[in-house]
Amino acid sequence: MIKFRNEIAEIVPYKPGRPIADVQREYNLSEVVKLASNENPLGYSPNCKAAIEAALDSLEIYPDGNCTELKSVISEKFKIPVSSIAVSSGSDEMIDILSKVFIESGDEIIMSDVTFVRYIDTTRVMGGVPVVIPLKDWKYDLESMLEAITEKTKLIWLCNPNNPTGTIFTDSELSDFLKRVPKDIVVVYDEAYSEYVESDEYPKDSLKYLSEYENMIVMKTFSKAYGLAALRVGYSFASESIIENINKVRGPFNVNSIAQAAAIASIKDEEFLKRVYDMNAEGKKYIYDEFEKLGVEYVPSEANHIFFTLKRDSNEIFVALQKLGVIIRPILKDWLRVSIGTPEQNSAFIDALKKVLSK
Ligand SMILES: Cc1ncc(COP(=O)(O)O)c(C=O)c1O
Repeated sequence: MIKFRNEIAEIVPYKPGRPIADVQREYNLSEVVKLASNENPLGYSPNCKAAIEAALDSLEIYPDGNCTELKSVISEKFKIPVSSIAVSSGSDEMIDILSKVFIESGDEIIMSDVTFVRYIDTTRVMGGVPVVIPLKDWKYDLESMLEAITEKTKLIWLCNPNNPTGTIFTDSELSDFLKRVPKDIVVVYDEAYSEYVESDEYPKDSLKYLSEYENMIVMKTFSKAYGLAALRVGYSFASESIIENINKVRGPFNVNSIAQAAAIASIKDEEFLKRVYDMNAEGKKYIYDEFEKLGVEYVPSEANHIFFTLKRDSNEIFVALQKLGVIIRPILKDWLRVSIGTPEQNSAFIDALKKVLSK
């Protein structure tokens, strides 16, 4: 009998948001709104199409395995040397790579409960021991994370804003945290949703910590505000020695040429990012207002999704909304997450929610 690694025995495969076509087929619906995967309802920068078309002319050629041009434009935008940048096939792949770079069997890996699920899965794959710290008022409990550090601690995963709760910790909290973490423990700071944050207290410039903290890695993505989720491009910043080790572990051509071309074309489109930010802020306000009118409890969010409860079984709500043509995501027993969409998508969600609540 073939034997699989013990480490993967308990892992449940990642369950993505349900595809629109699936739900259309199952419930015989012509219109379905998907607000389940924190995708960008505005699409992506109009600058991308021509770049993608040009890249289609060379599909027989391997992509630039070093992502030279992409790293150069990232370097220019963030004022960080190319030698401190790594690009990956989505930040998902970077989470995987970092787990391979750092985690050995028995290492304790600190993370929050109710956060991005890939941290615990990749930790387990590598035989790490997840040390899971409950959220406090739906926020990261950084103090308890610090208290959980032992001699066996190897790495800490941080998500700010947090997915799925949309909560943040402040710049001064991050600064204090980094000061107190021993320098041989790696801190991975995932800011996949940073472009959506409205709060002035948020660490708007987390990269400033890299020069002082060689144990810190900052992860970002083109999947959310840039709207390139299908192409899979993530980018990260860290010390040269960490980047060198990432390069040992990643696949040699981990980011395809179409993805590189689109990312290069979109990175400078600040106007697009501004439209994304504004539409998200407006959509958030609309959903908050409607939730308040309906008496729905929610957690104020700094991201492109809102965590809420109807104090009823979340799976039932999820199915009931699906039958009405709206896909969202059940998270906990009675808590769900809805991504913020276009005004039309948001009102389709609210209309469907009203119907579900009236039952
Ligand atoms: C917090 C967080 N990090 C990373 C990712 C992965 O994003 P991607 O692999 O598309 O860059 C996600 C995706 O939902 C996320 O929510």
